[in-house]
Amino acid sequence: MDLFEYQAKELFAKHGVPTSPGRVTDTVADARKIAEEIGKAVMVKAQVKVGGRGKAGGVKYAATPDDAQKYAEDILGLDIKGHVVKRLLVAEASDIAEEYYISFMLDRANRNYLAMCSVEGGVEIEEVAVNSPDRLAMIAVDPVKGVDLAFARSIAEQGHLPAEVLDAAAVTIQKLWEVFIAEDATLVEVNPLVRTPDDQILALDGKVTLDENASFRQPGHEAFADHSATDPLELKAQESDLNYVKLDGEVGIIGNGAGLVMSTLDVVAYAGEKHGGVKPANFLDIGGGASAAVMAAGLDVILGDEQVKSVFVNVFGGITACDAVANGIVGALKTLGDSANKPLVVRLDGNNVEEGRRILAEANHPLVTVVGTMDEAADKAAALAAGK
Ligand SMILES: Nc1ncnc2c1ncn2[C@@H]1O[C@H](COP(=O)(O)OP(=O)(O)OP(=O)(O)O)[C@@H](O)[C@H]1O
Ligand SMILES: [Mg+2]
Repeated sequence: MDLFEYQAKELFAKHGVPTSPGRVTDTVADARKIAEEIGKAVMVKAQVKVGGRGKAGGVKYAATPDDAQKYAEDILGLDIKGHVVKRLLVAEASDIAEEYYISFMLDRANRNYLAMCSVEGGVEIEEVAVNSPDRLAMIAVDPVKGVDLAFARSIAEQGHLPAEVLDAAAVTIQKLWEVFIAEDATLVEVNPLVRTPDDQILALDGKVTLDENASFRQPGHEAFADHSATDPLELKAQESDLNYVKLDGEVGIIGNGAGLVMSTLDVVAYAGEKHGGVKPANFLDIGGGASAAVMAAGLDVILGDEQVKSVFVNVFGGITACDAVANGIVGALKTLGDSANKPLVVRLDGNNVEEGRRILAEANHPLVTVVGTMDEAADKAAALAAGK
């Protein structure tokens, strides 16, 4: 999960990394208020999860609360590379003597951690990497030894930071390493890490990516999730632990196993061409279990999609036998009652398929059509979605 700058800075503050004081807001009036509270010049900064905010006009220096208000008006709603700005960070503007670059990241290719540091920070670090790679130090970090103060100082030195600030930079770099490890991050990047005229070192920007595989031991990280950017159906599916992705079409899809579901999308899209161009409405993998509860949760999400006109349930019984899946479908329809109101095309195959089909035939639910093969089922589901 990528964090917004203001969230990254919350983690920085937690671990004692010095930043510029400020607060996040989503209104112009409040942006002005924060500037008044700070009582000095501020930076008004777009909070979007994409690089190059400054160049796109999303980072502005405001000398007065009036300016802060004006820039807040300009920046809220601004489209930066397809990301619409909904929040602003209003932070004290620091005096800057020099801008550096520092990052820690997971180095997948080398199965290791990597530190990068450069005296030439600021907005053009990508160019430094290309045009003067010798100015950008890339230093492997032993995951067992980690980064102590001495190693942090060496990272700063290899990045060509000036001698006068090496000690101060080492303290901050060591704390950034602590953020990286303690928060289970795969990236902690600060660009710029600045030197003030009185030789303080401050993190004025922050990019943090958290490893969601570690979320079980990071309960505090849930609060960082940006639900406003998530589709409401995807949110509902997440709450039931379903692997669901909303798509644009009319045929709801439920299957077991990611590979089977993906090929189901292809087959439905292909069949849909003959029926006025109907398309799959979603990806939904209910996994191995396919119990009535999981099936009901999945159907509930799909039937909640107004665009859906028909549903294709495509299950290959492996470890979970088809009779269990059939009972799952019958049970789910019972659970959903009247809210199940769109035709279901079911294709079952594999382990104990006869019994599965028998159960569905016996239930004889008016919405359910059982079809023998995947291609026929896709064609039927597409036809139903097209109103035929
Ligand atoms: N609090 C601050 N005080 C003074 N100057 C700042 C402050 N925050 C940012 N700046 C200046 O604005 C420049 C751009 O800010 P920042 O690094 O946050 O955005 P960006 O690099 O354009 O965005 P991104 O990192 O998304 O590409 C910095 O290099 C710095 O010169
Ligand atoms: Mg930056």
